[in-house]
Amino acid sequence: MSLADFTSSLDSLLVAAEKSLGLVADEAGLEELRVLYTGAKNGQLKSIQKGMGSLSSDERPAAGKKFNEVRDSVQAAIDNAAARISGGSLVGASPKSSGTKKSVPPIDPTLPGVRPRLGRLHPITQTIEDLKEIMGRLGFSATEGPEIEDTWHNFVALNIPEDHPARDPLDNFYLATAGKNASDPTALDAKLLRSQTSTVQIRAMESQKPPLRIISLGRVYRPDEADATHFPMFHQMEGLWIDTSVSMAQLKSVLRMFATSYLGGDVTIRFRPSFFPFTEPSVEVDYFWNDQWIEFGGAGMVDPNVLKAVGYDPEEMSGFAFGLGVERLCMRRYGITDIRDLFRSDVRFLRQF
Ligand code: DAH
Repeated sequence: MSLADFTSSLDSLLVAAEKSLGLVADEAGLEELRVLYTGAKNGQLKSIQKGMGSLSSDERPAAGKKFNEVRDSVQAAIDNAAARISGGSLVGASPKSSGTKKSVPPIDPTLPGVRPRLGRLHPITQTIEDLKEIMGRLGFSATEGPEIEDTWHNFVALNIPEDHPARDPLDNFYLATAGKNASDPTALDAKLLRSQTSTVQIRAMESQKPPLRIISLGRVYRPDEADATHFPMFHQMEGLWIDTSVSMAQLKSVLRMFATSYLGGDVTIRFRPSFFPFTEPSVEVDYFWNDQWIEFGGAGMVDPNVLKAVGYDPEEMSGFAFGLGVERLCMRRYGITDIRDLFRSDVRFLRQF
């Protein structure tokens, strides 16, 4: 026997089997057909299989594969016929049955359906999308920076001197990298998990010429004890606008417009004089909620030292920057009172958003 004959006899067997099994109407008829096609002694499949012995050894793998496919299809046709005869439905019968007789449970169309659960975006992800959208309307385009940073971008270029408490190893996640500076957090290339998204201001200015109007949203890390308002990882939105004559008045209007767009027209915000090494003058920005002022970010006019660090001319360019806490905005908007709820991955909480 040739491989072609072998294959075509299997094909005709399958056609005949599917046809007769599709028509058979009772258990006895089905059993007859089962024996006819798959009977262990004289079944048609068995006798075709015997023909494999006369094939050459390099034809046998293909022949074996074909045989298995047809055998499985015949079995599936038997299973379907059995389900049909016993009043079940064809739905759910697997076409590649394992060969054991399988009864398919009948479907009761009067039972109520099960509504599939839809996934959804995490509230912080939704907030990030909303913030990008609002700032996009104000002309800010979104950019990103790495979460593992070096001392230069996280501190030095931002005018944060070596003895500044913000650089204390106890207040940062320095990485014990294998490099030569592993133990020296003052080295410019010492690595840490960024403690603020202000790093992206530096990266953006290093790689682009002014004017510049960007935001950057992402995670930051600080070794804080977790409580209702603190978490060792949280998100910030950084903003930076550099041009020939950017003013503090513009900074205040941008932040006001942003706050009313995101939190609603009735939100009250205030600016308090403050200090940041990378801005001069600097302010802290608060909103009013539940009878108290809540700080949601810092801002100010970019310090000339920062402009110099990235090679911009402070005589020519000025700008403002701000850094806002994403969780605090999200919590205020949705009335969430414990930041830890955002990161517990409890679907009962997350499903509400
Ligand atoms: N980086 C500051 C922080 O994490 C927030 C901040 C303050 C960012 C003032 C700024 C800024 O861009 O101008 O606390």
